[in-house]
Amino acid sequence: MTAREKWGTRIGLVLAMAGNAVGLGNFLRFPVQAAQNGGGAFMIPYFVALLLLGIPLMWVEWAMGRYGGKYGHGSIPGMFDEMWKNRMAKYLGAVGLMITAVILIYYTYIESWTLGFSFFSLTKSYFGDNTFETMRGFLASYQGVGEGHFDSVLPAYVFMCLTLIANLFVLYKGISRGIERLALIAMPALVIFAIILLIRVVTLGAPDPVAHPDWNVSSGFAFLWNPDFTKLSQAGIWLAAAGQTFFTLSVGLGCIQAYSSYVGDRDDIALGGLTTASTNEAVEVVFGGSIAIPVAVAFFGIMATQEIAQRGAFDLGFVSLPIIFTKIPLGQFFGFIWFLLLFFAGITSSVALATPVMAFLQDEFGLSRAKATALVGSVVFLALHLVVFFLGHGFLDEMDYWAGTFGLAAFALVEVIIFAWIFGMNKGWEEITRGARIKIPKIFYFVIKYVTPLYLLFIIGNWLVRDAVAVLLMDSVAKADLPYRWGARLLMLALLAAFILGVWHVWRKRDPRKREKGIA
Ligand code: PHE
Repeated sequence: MTAREKWGTRIGLVLAMAGNAVGLGNFLRFPVQAAQNGGGAFMIPYFVALLLLGIPLMWVEWAMGRYGGKYGHGSIPGMFDEMWKNRMAKYLGAVGLMITAVILIYYTYIESWTLGFSFFSLTKSYFGDNTFETMRGFLASYQGVGEGHFDSVLPAYVFMCLTLIANLFVLYKGISRGIERLALIAMPALVIFAIILLIRVVTLGAPDPVAHPDWNVSSGFAFLWNPDFTKLSQAGIWLAAAGQTFFTLSVGLGCIQAYSSYVGDRDDIALGGLTTASTNEAVEVVFGGSIAIPVAVAFFGIMATQEIAQRGAFDLGFVSLPIIFTKIPLGQFFGFIWFLLLFFAGITSSVALATPVMAFLQDEFGLSRAKATALVGSVVFLALHLVVFFLGHGFLDEMDYWAGTFGLAAFALVEVIIFAWIFGMNKGWEEITRGARIKIPKIFYFVIKYVTPLYLLFIIGNWLVRDAVAVLLMDSVAKADLPYRWGARLLMLALLAAFILGVWHVWRKRDPRKREKGIA
């Protein structure tokens, strides 16, 4: 067996991990979640979730990954198998692979829209006398689900292919020469773009001071940050906050583990994990919170912005902001920067989403990087056709719900139980703190052992009681969409079956006595 790859430099690792976490979730999902869930009040459950779920899980996952890497495993089945000597452990790990694969598939498609829209900003394709209706039409026709500027989904298809090729190229180049190099360029660029946009936003003032003096940037900030405490008593906002924490930090599925499996056994992970989480939060709260919503309030007022937020992240990012770009000087340039920012944020996350499966194929099946890239590329390419052509019928939403929302919380619970209770918290704490450059307060020992699992149990229990049956039976789904929703479920089950089969195939041939020694 050839030696596993390693990150080249410390800064490269830090930026790659930050790139993993910083993504579309920071710039599109966060502002919308905050606006929908009580604005400033959302920040309370959000920071509670960050302290009690996000940061603890970040450390657990870095530790799990470094531990698995020592035994030659970059994906969850092998890691669970090393930590829990039970025949079923590796099959549970297959669920994690399925979650990463599912998110990878739809995330790649959304990422490709950002590439498309940065191109359409340059070419001024959506410029003109736009209303919400015409701009929504532009997006819908691009997605092939409505009338508007485009007659077919072909442009979207082309950008999907380009995005996939860019991703595969980076994966093919490998950890240090691909992902690390990408992060070294994309992350600083992203911060520069964000600063340019931030300056543009705060200097906007009130675009229409005569007719709407109250439509201005400061009322935009006020809308996002003024707390609505009445919402704090609703269970929904606590769930939303936890969900956002998982998604934005990339925890609960195996992507952090995959990256940290390429660090050395004695390298620090305590500071690394903390840096990843804090970089992500800085980008999320500072940039994610101060671009999209305040600018929308300045141009459309609070009422309309509220409606936009209710319609979700896509309307805000792909409908409202483009309208604004058509109205400001140099809008072409700012539009280009905004969508390119999203694209850079997206690609450093999508290569992270692909890494667990890449590692699974390389570590466990002994495939070369080129072959693993070709296999991942082909499967994702095929599955993307379903997403592209069935988009209008909830195909993507179904995947996002089960993998991107429910899946992360449920799988995080499995991870933390295996780590703190089966592997054991004493060993676990030793793993987290070995080589640490900072001293983690001992209270996190107890948080990881008791609070994180109980918090997760509570969230999932709440879901079981409140939503499970209705969601499983698709009570509120329109009849016409049912076949597509079932199609998405079948696709997810097929992926799960494939991973379970893969795990079975690999471990069938392994000599259990040899395994004990590991390869380190
Ligand atoms: N954290 C990424 C974002 O904010 C999404 C992501 C989730 C990436 C899970 C990898 C794993 O967009």
